[in-house]
Amino acid sequence: MEFEISNLKKHFGGIQALDGVSLNFSGNLIIGLIGPNGSGKSTLVNTIGGIYEPDGGTITFNGKRIDHLKPNQVVQHGIGRTFQVTRAFRRMTVMENLLVPALALYPEKGRKTWEARSREVLDFLTMDHLRNDYARSLSGGQQKLLELGQLMMTDTQLLLLDEPFAGVHPKLMESIFEYIQTLYAQGKSFLIISHDMNSIFTLSHRLIVLNYGKLIADGDPQVVKYDEKVIEAYLGEELQDA
Ligand SMILES: Nc1ncnc2c1ncn2[C@@H]1O[C@H](COP(=O)(O)OP(=O)(O)O)[C@@H](O)[C@H]1O
Ligand SMILES: [Mg+2]
Repeated sequence: MEFEISNLKKHFGGIQALDGVSLNFSGNLIIGLIGPNGSGKSTLVNTIGGIYEPDGGTITFNGKRIDHLKPNQVVQHGIGRTFQVTRAFRRMTVMENLLVPALALYPEKGRKTWEARSREVLDFLTMDHLRNDYARSLSGGQQKLLELGQLMMTDTQLLLLDEPFAGVHPKLMESIFEYIQTLYAQGKSFLIISHDMNSIFTLSHRLIVLNYGKLIADGDPQVVKYDEKVIEAYLGEELQDA
């Protein structure tokens, strides 16, 4: 896959949440996205995902411009995302949570096909025993898994995960970690926002750092870790134990 962001800008009133962000990669890899609170991480993911329209710059995926598309169109182009605060349908079952978005996007494939796919996805995530449970009865971590399952349903090539480990039990965190690595080995790419420094430094092949809407570092995680601008942005704290 080919992914390119060029000089992306997004402001909210007087706040420049994205101040000319550029990033590109080809092939498949796991990119970690870190930065202090309010540095623009979620805004970047929301803008790529079509929730926000950029004020300037371009986003290109496999040769096609995808800025200015609606979220469902971005998914149809092969980019899916999860939310920092999970958006599972609380009053639907786990299985329905997988079926509903897939059916809405691609009704022509038919319910039978999607039901079969949902069983595969639930098997992969070791969630089959939960298929008839209501989403609201799931733990925070299981809801994060369910969102990953929603992405797997439609087989998007680039997965944007906003804080997939936040509030997740360490044991389940390990599972999510493994699923990401397996999906990567199957050819998927990831852009992962995380405050969990141990996970993000271990998972990422490349690490990018936002501060006040600008990319202040981009490269090998072990190099970025010792970058002076990065240490300064974090005041040294959170990076030390990673
Ligand atoms: N919908 C919005 N309306 C107004 N301001 C926003 C909105 N979303 C984000 N912001 C502001 O943009 C900046 C970046 O926010 P965000 O992307 O959520 O940061 P991060 O995810 O890195 O913590 C912050 O100053 C935040 O208050
Ligand atoms: Mg955020």
